[in-house]
Amino acid sequence: MKKKLKVLALFDAIRATKIDQDLSKEMKTEDWKTEANVLSALRTLGHTEEHLAIFDDLDLLRQKLATFQPDVIFNLADQFKNNRGFDQNIVSFLEMQGVPFTGCSATGLVLCKHKGISKKILHYHRIHVPNFVVIPRGQRILRPKQLKFPILVKPVKEEASYGISQASFVETDEQFKERAEFIHESHDADVIAEEYIEGRELYVGLMGNFRLKVFPLRELVFREVPPDEPKIATYRAKWDEEYRKRWGLRNKFAEGLEPALVTRIEETCRRIYRLLTIDGYARIDLRLTPKNEIYFIEANPNPILAEDEDFAQAAGKAGLPYPQLIDRIIRQGMNTLRD
Ligand SMILES: Nc1ncnc2c1ncn2[C@@H]1O[C@H](COP(=O)(O)OP(=O)(O)O)[C@@H](O)[C@H]1O
Ligand SMILES: [Mg+2]
Repeated sequence: MKKKLKVLALFDAIRATKIDQDLSKEMKTEDWKTEANVLSALRTLGHTEEHLAIFDDLDLLRQKLATFQPDVIFNLADQFKNNRGFDQNIVSFLEMQGVPFTGCSATGLVLCKHKGISKKILHYHRIHVPNFVVIPRGQRILRPKQLKFPILVKPVKEEASYGISQASFVETDEQFKERAEFIHESHDADVIAEEYIEGRELYVGLMGNFRLKVFPLRELVFREVPPDEPKIATYRAKWDEEYRKRWGLRNKFAEGLEPALVTRIEETCRRIYRLLTIDGYARIDLRLTPKNEIYFIEANPNPILAEDEDFAQAAGKAGLPYPQLIDRIIRQGMNTLRD
C-alpha cells in the first residue's frame, strides 16, 4: 500500500472567495469539470483532500498551508485576478514556500507561454518551427518580406485558442494588418504572426521529469472541412459543440502513421519537453506535413486534465486509468527538484 497523503487542490476563481468557500454549485458546471474530476479521483485514491480557490488573495493560501499542512498541492490554478499570465507567479510563490506541488515549474511555464521565445529556443536546436514575427502593441504593423502567406495571426501568450478564429488566417497585407490591429486593440495583446503549416494536427501527451513517458498520439480531424480550406483549431473548433458537429471535428487517436514516424515524433517531443525545461506533464501540439515533416506549434505544460480531454484519454490508452494518472502526477510532483 502506498502512503495516503494530505492533498490540497488549488483552483483559481473568477471572483473573490473565502477560505471555506462552498464550491459545490460550480463543481457541477462544465467550466469546473477538471476540478471536479480531480477531486473525485483524490477521494477514490483515499487521500485526505481539501481544496481552495483563489482570486487575488495569496493570504488565503498562506493560511490554508498553515492550518492544513498538506504533503502536496495539486495545482490547477492557472490564473490570478482573471489574468492567465500569472500562472507562473502562482507557481513561483509555491516554489518560495517550499511546498511540493504538481505540474510544471515556473521556468517551463514562462518559456512555453511565450510562443515566440519557445520557438527561438527550439529553432536553435534544429526543430522545425513555422517562420514567425512578433509584433508588440504600440509597434508599427509590418509584414517582413520573408514571411510568406498564408499567415496565422495570434496573440503571443494566449491559451485555449482565445483570439483565434477563421479571420486569423490571412492571405493579404491588408488582412494581416487588420487582424494584428484587432489583437492589439480588442485583446490588448502582443501579436505573433506565423506562416501557416498545412498538415495533420497532432497532440502528444508526455509525463515525467527525468525519464519521460510519451502517450499514444491524439489527432484533431476536420472531417467535413473542404480540402482547400484552412484547418485550424479555433476557439469555436475547441469549445462549440454545434460547430464541431457541423464541420465534423473530432479528437481521436491518430491512425495510419508508420511506426518509424511515430518514433520520430516521440523523440522530437521528448527533446522539446527537455529543451523547454518542462517538468510534470505536458501536451505538445504539432503539425505533420504531407511530406512527414514535424512542425512544433505549441507546448502546453499543465494541459487540461479533465477525464474526457486528450491528455487523460491518451494516458488511459497507455495503461493509466484516471485515478492512477492523478496519483502518478502527485507522486511525481513530490519528487521534483525545484529551484
Ligand atoms: N503556424 C500554424 N500553422 C498551422 N496551424 C496553426 C499554426 N499556429 C496555430 N495553428 C492552429 O491554431 C491552433 C491554436 O494555436 P495555438 O498556437 O496552439 O494557440 P492556443 O495556445 O490558443 O492553443 C492550433 O492548434 C492549430 O490548429
Ligand atoms: Mg494550442
